[in-house]
Amino acid sequence: MTEPDYVHATRTSYDTIAADYARHAAGELAAKPLDRGMLAGFADLVRTGGGGGGGGSSANGDGPLPVLEVGCGTGRVTAHLAGLGLPASGVDLSPEMIAVARQSEPGLRFDVGSMLSLDAPDGSLGGVVAWYSVIHIEEEQLPAVFAEFHRVLAPGGHVLLAFQVGDEPLRLTEAYGRPIALDFHRRRPEQIAALLDDAGLPVRARLLREADDEGDFTERTPQAFLLARKRPTA
Ligand SMILES: C[S@@+](CC[C@H](N)C(=O)[O-])C[C@H]1O[C@@H](n2cnc3c(N)ncnc32)[C@H](O)[C@@H]1O
Repeated sequence: MTEPDYVHATRTSYDTIAADYARHAAGELAAKPLDRGMLAGFADLVRTGGGGGGGGSSANGDGPLPVLEVGCGTGRVTAHLAGLGLPASGVDLSPEMIAVARQSEPGLRFDVGSMLSLDAPDGSLGGVVAWYSVIHIEEEQLPAVFAEFHRVLAPGGHVLLAFQVGDEPLRLTEAYGRPIALDFHRRRPEQIAALLDDAGLPVRARLLREADDEGDFTERTPQAFLLARKRPTA
C-alpha cells in the first residue's frame, strides 16, 4: 500500500527532532496532574478489568493483558504506564523517536510501525493509549485507525486518547530551530467520541481541561482526554 505524503512528512519531521523532543517533553507529565489522573484511571481499569463485564485481564489470571502506546514517540508515556503496573510497550512511525525510546527505557519494548496497521493479533490487548498521536492522522483515516484499535483490543479492553481541542489544524514548519512539516489536527471531543462509537468503542469518560498558560509547558488550546471501551461481549 502506498503511504500518503503526510505520513512520510510526519515520520521525517519526528526523525529530525527526536532528541530535542525527548529533552523538552521529559518533565511534562510531572507538571500535569489532571493528565496523570487520566492515565492512572486507565491503568486501574485495565489492571482490574474494571467497568463491569471483565476484559483487560488475561484468561489464565496472570495479570493484565498487554497495553500498547501507539505513537509512543520517545517512550515517556509508555514508561509512565509501566510505572503504574501495566505490561506496556510502544510503537511509533519514526525510527529516530524509537531509537531514543529504546535508549532511555532499555527495559521496555518499542517497535517501529504504524497505528494504521498494528502488529498485534485480534483481541490481544487490554488497552491502547494514543497520547497526542491521532493528532497527526488526517480526517478520512481516523475511522480506519479506530477500527484497528477495536481489532487489537480484547472484549472489555480500554482506549485512552489525548488531543488538542479546536477546529483549525496547526501547521508547523520549524521546531527547535529545525525545519519540519507537521500538521496538528485539533478536534472537538464530541466529533472524536462519535467516531469511536462508530468503531464499537463507546466513550465512558471525558476530561476537557483549559490550556495551561504558565510554566514550562504552555499550551495554545484546551486539551481533551477520552476514555473508551470495547464492548465486553463484542
Ligand atoms: C506529539 S508526539 C507524541 C509522542 C508521545 N505519545 C508523547 O506523548 O510523548 C506524536 C507521535 O505520534 C507518532 N505518529 C504519528 N503518526 C503515526 C502513525 N500513523 N503511526 C504511529 N505513530 C505515529 C509520531 O511519530 C510522534 O512520535
